[in-house]
Amino acid sequence: MLQKVLEEGRKAADAALERVLPSATQYPVSIHRAMRHSVFAGGKRLRPILCVEAGRMIFQSKVVRSKIVQSKIAESREESLPGIEQVGAALEMLHTYSLIHDDLPALDNDDLRRGRPTCHKAFGEATAILAGDALQTLAYETLAQIPCPPASIVAIIREIARGTGTIEGMIGGQVVDLEAERTKPDLSTVEYIHRSKTAALIAASVVSGGIYAGGDEADISRLRTYGQSIGLAFQIVDDVLDLTQTSEQLGKTAGKDAAAEKATYPALFGIDESLRKADALVKQGNAEIAAYGEAGSTLSELARYLVARQK
Ligand code: IPE
Ligand code: IPE
Ligand code: MG
Ligand code: MG
Ligand code: MG
Repeated sequence: MLQKVLEEGRKAADAALERVLPSATQYPVSIHRAMRHSVFAGGKRLRPILCVEAGRMIFQSKVVRSKIVQSKIAESREESLPGIEQVGAALEMLHTYSLIHDDLPALDNDDLRRGRPTCHKAFGEATAILAGDALQTLAYETLAQIPCPPASIVAIIREIARGTGTIEGMIGGQVVDLEAERTKPDLSTVEYIHRSKTAALIAASVVSGGIYAGGDEADISRLRTYGQSIGLAFQIVDDVLDLTQTSEQLGKTAGKDAAAEKATYPALFGIDESLRKADALVKQGNAEIAAYGEAGSTLSELARYLVARQK
């Protein structure tokens, strides 16, 4: 079942990205080729998938709350939230922009990403910087056009902008990640880095799906806590995989964190204890959405997959 969700979710995300990204022949071609090189390189599309599944969970729970028969739930999976894939496409463009910049020589200086040469290796540094910038602006242009009430559009844009911003958002986390290299930071710094650079966008992904589906305050608060917990678990596992997998398996250079003396959970606690912490976080996250019963089963499975994944 989860395999199907991942596979179909990935295809739906790819199709939505294809609809919004300029073609490789659109002038000026270099920037559009660079954007497409990084976006269409086989990412897992987890943020779009989490967004869509969070939206579905809230939509289905509303169907139950409005006392429509249980059998409607299965049906509602199909045509529940038209247009939500556009939110997913925006999240994936922002995530890809963060990866392009993360790989730059001034940041992690990586040559391999998603099984391909990194954007700056293929197109040069100037074009890679601009491709990241361009994916960011296109993400907000896409969000401005999603088919939902204007108040929801504004709330989603605010949520995602904060999740990628400087205060407990992706950019803030990247800053502290770089500044903490070779400093043997304490747990609270490592946790700040992980929560900000990775968990914040993951939390924004599920929260924006919930807003799109018309979730109330309690729904949004549960989704936020779920997203923060599984997002932290996700980065802990990313750090473990950096140590335990090959570059071929990951599609990005393995062993980089130790070489750069990055602030990671395994550096502080070792691999086994880090994985125990990731498991505990997934349990915490899933406890948060237990209130949704069957409607929350896909999100629970996704949370478990985030820690069990091998790439
Ligand atoms: C990698 O994210 C960067 C982190 C935030 C840890 P993913 O593991 O989701 O990368 P892709 O999108 O599948 O390439
Ligand atoms: C990056 O963390 C998180 C981002 C915001 C891109 P990493 O530097 O560990 O990500 P990878 O391992 O290069 O994908
Ligand atoms: Mg990094
Ligand atoms: Mg990196
Ligand atoms: Mg990493």
